[in-house]
Amino acid sequence: MDKYIIRGGRRLIGEVEISGAKNAAVAILPAVILADEPCVIENVPDISDVSICLRILDEMGAKVDMLSPTSYRIDPTTIHSFCVPYESARRMRASYYFLGALLGKYKQARVSMPGGCPLGDRPIDQHLKAFSAVGARCTIDHGMVDLSADRLTGNQIYLDVVSVGATMNAMLAAVRAEGLTVIENVAKEPHIVDLANFLNTMGADIMGAGTDVIKIRGVSKLHGATYSVIPDQIEAGTFMCAAAATGGDVLVKNVIPKHLESITNKLQKIGVVVEEFDDAVRVTVDGPLVKTSIKTMPHPGFPTDMQPQMAALLCLAEGTSIIKEGVWEQRFRYAEELRRMGADISVDGKVAVIEGVGSLMGAPVKACDLRAGAALIIAGLAAKGITEIEDIFHVERGYSNMEGKLQALGADIVKKNVPGASVKKALA
Ligand code: EPZ
Repeated sequence: MDKYIIRGGRRLIGEVEISGAKNAAVAILPAVILADEPCVIENVPDISDVSICLRILDEMGAKVDMLSPTSYRIDPTTIHSFCVPYESARRMRASYYFLGALLGKYKQARVSMPGGCPLGDRPIDQHLKAFSAVGARCTIDHGMVDLSADRLTGNQIYLDVVSVGATMNAMLAAVRAEGLTVIENVAKEPHIVDLANFLNTMGADIMGAGTDVIKIRGVSKLHGATYSVIPDQIEAGTFMCAAAATGGDVLVKNVIPKHLESITNKLQKIGVVVEEFDDAVRVTVDGPLVKTSIKTMPHPGFPTDMQPQMAALLCLAEGTSIIKEGVWEQRFRYAEELRRMGADISVDGKVAVIEGVGSLMGAPVKACDLRAGAALIIAGLAAKGITEIEDIFHVERGYSNMEGKLQALGADIVKKNVPGASVKKALA
C-alpha cells in the first residue's frame, strides 16, 4: 500500500505538462469496440483506470498493443466475450461504458454493476432508460447488468437528470442503431464532445454534442481511426490550485483554456493571477487570497471534480467561503482530513463553510476518494511540516505520475511503499 510523504512549504515553480483526460479516455477506449477495424488512441493518460479499461478489452479478446507510453493500437475485431466480470468492473465507475459499446456493436452485454469513488448514491437508471429506448431488454441479476436486443432502433430519449455517463452510454448504444436518435437534456462536458468527435472520426453521424440536444443518425459500419484524447481539465485545475496554494509560478501546458474557464474565473475571483495562452495557462499569486462562494453544477458550471481542490485552497484564503455541492450527495468526506491539518470547515449536508486559517499544519491523513486525495496533496504542499497521505491508490486512478510532476516543480513529495498498511487493510 503506497503513501505520499510531503514536506510542505515549498513554492511550486516551473512548467507542467497535462495528460489526456481520464473521463474522456475511459469512454473512448470502450468505444473502440464499436469499430470494424483497428483504432489508434493517442494522449492516453497513464493512470490505473485506463489500465483497467485496457485489461478488460484484452480479456474480452481485443488485441491491445502499446505504441508508446501514451498511445495504443486496439483491434476490436477479435473480441469473443461480451462480459465484464465483477473483479474488473468493481474497480472503476467507467466500466459501465462497456454496456453501451457492447450493446451498440453486438446487441448484447453482461457487465457487473460498476464501482468507483464513494460519492453517495450512484444509480444507473438513466443509462438503462436509454438502452431500453433503443430496443434493449435490460435485467439486473446477481449484480450483473444484462442487455440484449434483436435490433436497435433510433428513438427519442429524454434524460431525467443531466448525467455524463448516461449521455455517453446513450451515444454508444445509438450510434449504430437504425434511424434517428434524439437525446434531450444531455450533459455538455468537454469529454462528451470528445467522445462524439471520436465516433464521428470513425464515420458516425452525431450532431449537437456540447449542447442540450444530441442527434444521432445511425450508421451500419464504423471504420478504424487515429484519435488523440483531449487534455484533462481537472488535472490542469488541480495543478492551478496547487500553484496558487504554494504562492508559486507555474505554466500549466497542454490544456484547452476554454475548458478551464469556470476554474480560471473562480481562481481570479479569489486573487490568483491566471494568464491564458493558446494551449497553456500561467498561474501566479501577487497578494492575499480572499473568500468566495461556489456551487458545483454540470458543465459549463463549476465542476464537482474540482470542488475538494478548491476547498483546500480556500482554507488559505481570508474570510468565510461557502461551497454548495450540486451534483453528489457525499463529496465533503475530505473535510475531516483537512481539519486534522488545522482547517476550519463545517459541513451541513451538501454545504460546507470554510473559515480561512492562513496556514495549515502537516498531519497523517487518508485519501477517501480521487479528488479528496488531490485536495490533501494541495493542502500538504502548502502546510508547515510533514503530511503523510494514505490510500493514494485513489489518486493514481486519475492522476498520471502526480509525484513526478510535482517534484519537477520543486515540491518535496515522495511515494513510499508501506507493507504494514496493506496487512492492516486486509485485517480491517
Ligand atoms: C462522471 O460520473 C465522472 N466520472 C465523475 O468524475 C464526475 O464527478 C461526474 O461525471 C459529474 O461530472 C466519469 O466520467 C467516469 P453523472 P457519472 O452520471 O457519469 C445522477 C472524478 O472525480 N444520476 O453525471 O457517474 C447521479 O447520482 C469522477 O473524476 C442518476 O440519478 O456522473 C448524480 O447525482 C468522480 N441516474 C448526477 O446524476 C443515472 O442514471 C450526475 O451523475 C445517472 C446519474
